[in-house]
Amino acid sequence: MGWSGVGVLVIVLAVASFFMSKVTGNSEGDALYALRRSLDDPDKVLQSWDPNLVSPCTWFHITCNQDNRVTRVDLGNSKLSGHLVPEIGKLEYLQYLELYKNTIQGPIPAEIGNLKNLISLDLYNNNISGRIPSTLGKLKSLVFLRLNDNRLTGRIPRELTGVSSLKVMDVSNNNLCGTIPTTGPFEHIPLNNFENNPRLEGPELLGLASYDTNCS
Ligand SMILES: *[C@@H]1O[C@H](CO)[C@@H](O)[C@H](O)[C@H]1NC(C)=O
Repeated sequence: MGWSGVGVLVIVLAVASFFMSKVTGNSEGDALYALRRSLDDPDKVLQSWDPNLVSPCTWFHITCNQDNRVTRVDLGNSKLSGHLVPEIGKLEYLQYLELYKNTIQGPIPAEIGNLKNLISLDLYNNNISGRIPSTLGKLKSLVFLRLNDNRLTGRIPRELTGVSSLKVMDVSNNNLCGTIPTTGPFEHIPLNNFENNPRLEGPELLGLASYDTNCS
């Protein structure tokens, strides 16, 4: 092969690796960029989130593991508003989703239940509405679930009683209704972490027939 052959080969390999990185390398970057597009960011804390980079691991407020997979999103106290996006559910190595103390509104995407490595879901002090998704019951690594100081409605999903890793849960200052579960991890969660939900009726009495009336 002559020099021109080598040149052609180099170009072919470069083009191939470019497309490979588009296909495999940056799907996590694409998911995070979808989140960026859905948020309003007056302080430009997301300015470094450039989807043209090979991976999001150099972006500010993102932490990756040794394999360049996203493990942490740190955007507490960042004046963000707008909505969460279902694409967050694609960050399969995510352990910490820290979005507390912003004014994010709209629902918690059910797809967050796909984050099987998630340890901490901190959405407290926002303007989040809708229900707590029952899919959060699939988060078998979850330790911290802090959803307090939002506008959440509906019942506390019973699926959460199966999350045995859960140690810290706070849903105070919302508009939840029904009763508070008492089994599994709920045995150890103090009742004041449920306070200031005017329609929440107190701990569930097992075997009581009339339960969660007027709660939808
Ligand atoms: C909270 O969200 C509602 C709409 O769901 C909006 O009307 C209100 O202004 C928001 N509050 C703040 C502080 O952003």
